[in-house]
Amino acid sequence: MSAVPRPAPSCTPDVPPFDLARIRSDFPILGIEVNGKPLAYLDNAASAQMPTPVIDRIVSYQRREHANIHRAVHYLSETATAAYEGARAKVQGFLNAKEEREIIYTSGTTEAINLVMYGYGRKFLGDGDEIIVSQLEHHSNIVPWQMLCGEKGCRLRVIPCDDRGVLDLDAYEKLFNERTRFVAITHVSNALGTVNPVRAMIAAAHARGVPVLVDGAQAAPHIAVDVQELDCDFYCFSAHKLCGPTGMGALYGKAAMLEKMAPFKGGGDMILSVTFEKTTYAPLPAKFEAGTPHIAGAVALGATLDYLARVGMHDIAAWEHSLLEYATRQFETLEGVRIIGTAPEKAAVLSFEVKGVHPHDVGTILNEEGVAVRTGHHCAQPVMQRFRVPATVRASFAFYNTMAEVDQLVAGIRRVQQMFA
Ligand code: ALA
Repeated sequence: MSAVPRPAPSCTPDVPPFDLARIRSDFPILGIEVNGKPLAYLDNAASAQMPTPVIDRIVSYQRREHANIHRAVHYLSETATAAYEGARAKVQGFLNAKEEREIIYTSGTTEAINLVMYGYGRKFLGDGDEIIVSQLEHHSNIVPWQMLCGEKGCRLRVIPCDDRGVLDLDAYEKLFNERTRFVAITHVSNALGTVNPVRAMIAAAHARGVPVLVDGAQAAPHIAVDVQELDCDFYCFSAHKLCGPTGMGALYGKAAMLEKMAPFKGGGDMILSVTFEKTTYAPLPAKFEAGTPHIAGAVALGATLDYLARVGMHDIAAWEHSLLEYATRQFETLEGVRIIGTAPEKAAVLSFEVKGVHPHDVGTILNEEGVAVRTGHHCAQPVMQRFRVPATVRASFAFYNTMAEVDQLVAGIRRVQQMFA
């Protein structure tokens, strides 16, 4: 990461807009060998790897700063509280939220969506009300809403996508009616990589007075997100897809929305007063953070966001775009390989199938070649149903990946084809 100012990179630079070798040296795990081959880690959409500054921050927190937060006046408790709350300000900056209290720590995107379903959905939706989701959703943005439908008698309406994996926005507009109460959509499809036009979709919902939650799990690692510009009511992401720790994430909610919602979990630290007759709740964000939270996770998330800011989200997006374009061009030279998801706007995901070979066999042989990809339905079975495949192979890129790793993937696929010829 050079300190010298650079001109803004073109959208698909041929060379990384940062010192890639130096960045890779921040990730010790990228140097390991798998089956005697250099690791090509292309499963970043599942979980990205953690750089040394974040690992070091976790260690220094545990060695010198750890105590419970918000609960004592002693030195360590105050130090831990400052680190925990300091990280919240970093999340606020990362999402460009208006206020720090609009950031709620969660265990990840899944918990954030469940929090909104419980806190908003159970309180404000009822029999016959409708919730719009899309055909591109991860199960975590389908199942909680289905649970709500089962409990309250609501109905799920689904925005279809075309053969490229692009949402049909005319169909979306037509799904709205007087019973529409909520829209829950993903920013980027985890299975196909489609970047959805969420800003326009949010505006369409707001024109009808309907609030919108955006699942940002696959977008936040790749796109500079500005929740005020998007004007979403809720936005959520997971730290581990951003090179941070697992078990950690955040929900952004507009203060006015969070204020009127019911708490998700009851317990310590989310109250102002408790008697056996009545409990009054703490102000935001504590109202949604019952119990001792993942303090080290929050501190590590803060360090992760510092790291990403040093690399630069725009440079990250540009280099990943180059990797995706290069990989797509290489795949087009491979006979018998079909890319699933060919939307014009895509983030760093390449889902595909190799004719005549089960995706799990492809993944197993690629692993023998040192290449880590995900195979399966990617927790998005409706996407698989839409494209009439049981599963796909998914390569997903991060800013620390190289063109040579794309070549390693392509060579691995050629080997798969030779073995099954
Ligand atoms: N949601 C993660 C993925 O897409 C686990 O792989």
